[in-house]
Amino acid sequence: MHLTDEERRIIDGAFGEPQRIALSILAKLGDAYGADRMVEIASAHIVGSSYQIAGEAGIEIYGQLVEQGATVKVRTTCDPGSIDFARWRKFKTPANYAERQIKIAELLGRMGVIPTWTCTPYTTFNVPRFGEDLGWSESSAVVFANSVIGARTNRMAAYVDVCAALVGRVPRFGLHLPECRRGEVLFELAADLSDSFEDHFFPVLGYLVGQRTGDRIPVVTGIQHATFDQLKAFGAAAAASGSVALYHMVGVTPEARTLEEAFGARPPAERIVVGRREIVLTMEQMSTGERGDVDVVGVGCPHASIDQMRRYATLLRGKQVHTGTELWICANTVVEDMARKMGYVETIEQAGAKLMVGTCHNDCPLGAWGFRRLVTDSGKFAYYTPTTVGAECVFTSTEACIEAALTGRVEKQ
Ligand code: F3S
Repeated sequence: MHLTDEERRIIDGAFGEPQRIALSILAKLGDAYGADRMVEIASAHIVGSSYQIAGEAGIEIYGQLVEQGATVKVRTTCDPGSIDFARWRKFKTPANYAERQIKIAELLGRMGVIPTWTCTPYTTFNVPRFGEDLGWSESSAVVFANSVIGARTNRMAAYVDVCAALVGRVPRFGLHLPECRRGEVLFELAADLSDSFEDHFFPVLGYLVGQRTGDRIPVVTGIQHATFDQLKAFGAAAAASGSVALYHMVGVTPEARTLEEAFGARPPAERIVVGRREIVLTMEQMSTGERGDVDVVGVGCPHASIDQMRRYATLLRGKQVHTGTELWICANTVVEDMARKMGYVETIEQAGAKLMVGTCHNDCPLGAWGFRRLVTDSGKFAYYTPTTVGAECVFTSTEACIEAALTGRVEKQ
């Protein structure tokens, strides 16, 4: 691939060892994927911030980078960590585990990473613009940035994202190229679904789309309107059950004002009709658990927005979470602060629910809890919970999740 004079000097070590290593890795990646050149990025978002992902190797790598004076070249935010930094004792996190996460936080801070600890950096200090190139990892954030905002990023791997942050560049291939952003598979909602598309169908449809699409680009027609949170939930589910990094929703997302625009000049490679029956079948698949007692309810995946915090507070006002059942709401510190100012946190905590800030059920060690059944409204939690939490999962609507927390029981939908 073509490298500029400055990039050649970086690879020759003129700007230090961290930059040399970072750009060399990115150049090899670019060669492997047929990139023509590097492209400058507006921001990076890294996933190796979590001790669960980075492990001891991460501490060693970040330690060496800090010793060599590495600092990030562009605005860089970080994904959830493996602890709630303010409340890890409440979540029964072992002290030695928490110490390792705190060490990673210290090292990333010295490199200039903004400690957002969230999978929704676009609700904090990392809000991309349409058409901007980015170097992001975190599947739910990548799919949101590409699809809802129209920014451009591939789904970067852990540590490759750090390389991008250190040099402020990524190789130009895949979703950085307009011709690689066109739709490939068409999902048409049947009238029985399109006419009354309920809020909790968004993650279910995302889950189904991910399963059927794999790593191709899906285009959905038949959704008349979608909120920020519904698009967030749809994309996160599609990115979990499949490898979707970009979707188009005709009439909703910015690169799909029309069906023709979504597909460019090409016809869809496949056309799939989705009706109410397919949604019901997928919902059954998302629930590995049965009706019965509930140990823990998990909402806020991806991290809750301020609108979701208001919704939880409204549903919980004046009520009490059932004894023996936990209700955990995952969010980032920026949303937490605002929700506190708005009085939502007080209402939520008075009801006996816990805020889980800067982390989530999938990132924390939860072995000490011995959970057997988790209830969630998130397609991503539904996909990962059986392995990460080691519990059965029941997927249902947000309202039914809160009801399950209040009664301690769930009915499988
Ligand atoms: Fe975020 Fe954890 Fe869900 S990282 S997307 S809350 S699994």
